[in-house]
Amino acid sequence: MKGIVLAGGSGTRLMPLTSVFSKQLLPIYDKPMIFYPLSILMLAGIREILIITTSNDQNLFKKLLGHGERYGIDISYEVQDSPRGIADAFIIGEDFIGESSVSLILGDNIFFSHDFSSILKNAFKQRKGAHVFLTNVSNPEEFGVANVDKDGKVLSIEEKPQKPRSNLAVTGLYIYDNNVIEIAKTLKPSKRGELEITDINLDYLNQGNLNATTLGRGFTWLDTGTHESLISAGEFVRTIEDRQGLKIACLEEIAFNEDWIDISTLRGHITQYKNSPYEAYLKKLLEK
Ligand code: G1P
Repeated sequence: MKGIVLAGGSGTRLMPLTSVFSKQLLPIYDKPMIFYPLSILMLAGIREILIITTSNDQNLFKKLLGHGERYGIDISYEVQDSPRGIADAFIIGEDFIGESSVSLILGDNIFFSHDFSSILKNAFKQRKGAHVFLTNVSNPEEFGVANVDKDGKVLSIEEKPQKPRSNLAVTGLYIYDNNVIEIAKTLKPSKRGELEITDINLDYLNQGNLNATTLGRGFTWLDTGTHESLISAGEFVRTIEDRQGLKIACLEEIAFNEDWIDISTLRGHITQYKNSPYEAYLKKLLEK
């Protein structure tokens, strides 16, 4: 399984915060936004990751994350020059994906739950078709919305419906078999001029190959598209981290726990964080 983080787009709703650089580099409390979706792919055990950015911002992402050595993963980069839609990621990423199956996560989606890595690893066992993750939201009309039967089987998906048939949003984390590349190539741009991920999901649904996990109420999914939701996400992370003394999306910690980096690699990278709380947290991890 390979992973893609889509971190393109111009983030216009967040201007002037996004006037000079990418939304996915903005802070969510104590880390850049991209750490959070990247951590989800890592928790799922994915080590080959493609990050798709605008051409303007690619160097900043490279400066921040490099090619992933410090996290024991392999990061490559591609550019999305215009906001052609989420499904464009599979066309841009065709060579990277190769013959593999692929998980895509949107660079502005934040997930938090107990044992999410087991939920993901379980979903990855499915070799054929597509898998989406659904969760209850108060504003379904702003998302892809799924209608499911009593067994959780998806009956329909609609993109930003005016009259949603349920409150179940399709979150920005998707798993696909290799057919996704060919399906993406057949798509036509929607009314908003984008290749829609919902159209990919509908294709799998029509073939009877779409599976879904409905994430329960102990699960948190945050989006960061507005100033309000951005600060709420930061407050959420601060509340949990302050209370638990454990960091959300500390990439070095995940890599170290997975045995992808050894103590000397961790020690070598800590100094770059100078005398920040992030450095102190990693030092404590070393002491343990
Ligand atoms: C996109 C998808 C939508 C999905 C959402 C999750 O919306 O089109 O189906 O529910 O991501 O964040 P967009 O960000 O393009 O408005």
